[in-house]
Amino acid sequence: MSIAHIVLDRDFVIGDVPRRLFGSFVEHMGRCVYTGIYEPGHPEADERGFRQDVLKLVKEMGPTVIRYPGGNFVSGYDWEDGIGPVEKRPRRLDGAWHTIETNEFGLHEFVDWSREAGTEIMEAINLGTRGIDEARAIVEYANFPGGSKWSDLRIANGAKEPFDIKLWCLGNELDGPWQMGSKTPHEYGRLAQEAGKAMRLIDPSIELVAVGSSSSNMPTFAEWEHTVLSLAYDEVDYISCHAYYQEENGDAGSFLATAMDTDHFIESVVATADAVRARVKGKKRINISFDEWNVWYQRGLETEDQPHVITRRGEWREHPRIIEDTYNVTDAVVVGTLLHSLLRHGDRVTIANQAQLVNVIAPIRSEENGPAWRQASFWPFARMSALAKGGILRPVVKSDKYATKEFGDADLVDVAATWDEATGQAAVFLANRGLEEAADVTIELRGFGATGIGRAEVLTVPEGGDRFAANTEQDQDRVGLRPLDAAIDEGVVRVTLPALSWAVVPLEVSRA
Ligand code: AHR
Repeated sequence: MSIAHIVLDRDFVIGDVPRRLFGSFVEHMGRCVYTGIYEPGHPEADERGFRQDVLKLVKEMGPTVIRYPGGNFVSGYDWEDGIGPVEKRPRRLDGAWHTIETNEFGLHEFVDWSREAGTEIMEAINLGTRGIDEARAIVEYANFPGGSKWSDLRIANGAKEPFDIKLWCLGNELDGPWQMGSKTPHEYGRLAQEAGKAMRLIDPSIELVAVGSSSSNMPTFAEWEHTVLSLAYDEVDYISCHAYYQEENGDAGSFLATAMDTDHFIESVVATADAVRARVKGKKRINISFDEWNVWYQRGLETEDQPHVITRRGEWREHPRIIEDTYNVTDAVVVGTLLHSLLRHGDRVTIANQAQLVNVIAPIRSEENGPAWRQASFWPFARMSALAKGGILRPVVKSDKYATKEFGDADLVDVAATWDEATGQAAVFLANRGLEEAADVTIELRGFGATGIGRAEVLTVPEGGDRFAANTEQDQDRVGLRPLDAAIDEGVVRVTLPALSWAVVPLEVSRA
């Protein structure tokens, strides 16, 4: 049995939980849109083709903001192809994913879908093959009330009221050689500044995300952020981070500790952004939009010169099955710790999007003309989105450690916590990275006291299974949450985490 002691102090609040931290991502890639959220003719689809079974799971999972329409896709996308009468929309070749895009689903459909899902839109524009002119046109189309070329076209296309999209991404992964229209940091920094300026001249209320590094392993990492922000500091509000992780060569210990890489990535980008702020004498702070993160078993699929590109041979097809990873218990625990890392840095990471929402490396799976179900990784996201409310507590953790090949010593128990003063609810999110040993955890509260424990739950290896157990179409609930015993003993909360587990302990607290 390993041991961890956690101190939560009412005065150690680093900031409010940014609700946009629980974002997701819908890309026109594989089966995320087509046969994912949208499938006319499916028995569960409504008259607009929105799959209600998928929507139900989306609402249960609780994403707050959804990035759209890409991803690599957006860097070759003409958004005008996806508006107007559906029968007139062109079929186009999407080079990013070697796919035929029918454009049956476009901006209006996504706005309608988002309204039903109750999610905010984060719209990405094409700064790969296009530029400033497109940038200002789409903002006018989406946000201007009427009486101009683009806003009148929106009205003619059936949307009298503006979409009022606040959050915009200035392109996608333009530091990556795989990206259509990739750029040097200088080229991109200038373009982001000018595109951002043109967009804000149409709607000054929008918030802009500049493209950051596609991973902290990019050769231009940090130099990219420094140059881009030096050139575009005044126009942008956020810089993006993207990170995907996977277990390699059976090294589960390192994989389980990958949130340490996320911590390092975030802290490095914050330091770089703040260094630029000092140099340009900036008044505002640039925050982070961690707008793609997840577990993704991508290595082994790429070619040497194109690290992010999966094999794109064969026929051009509509919505092919691409990167439909199945997530097991180990992956779900890692997803939990990645969310912990984002939450612990929630004073500077104020937007984050798990990539993606349905089918494509996603917590929700669906089959064409078939069922929809939750992957194991659904659960940490769903519970954290529901329970992380109020202020973010900075936990002080003394945990037994274990040695990893990639990151040195790592805490066996990983923690994040929140406290909502208004409702008197706190939530402690815990992961036990130990593959063999349970962990005995004590949580000491300072400045407030625990008066009760809510529904404590744990995700771990199911009975008779192993750490690779997963949910499948045939066995949709093999991995899920089950009740966890937790007790208050002389003011200290005690809980035992099974080996390899992610857990939540909701608490009722009152000021001491
Ligand atoms: O989410 C899958 C892909 O990963 C996105 O299209 C791209 O931005 C990233 O490389």
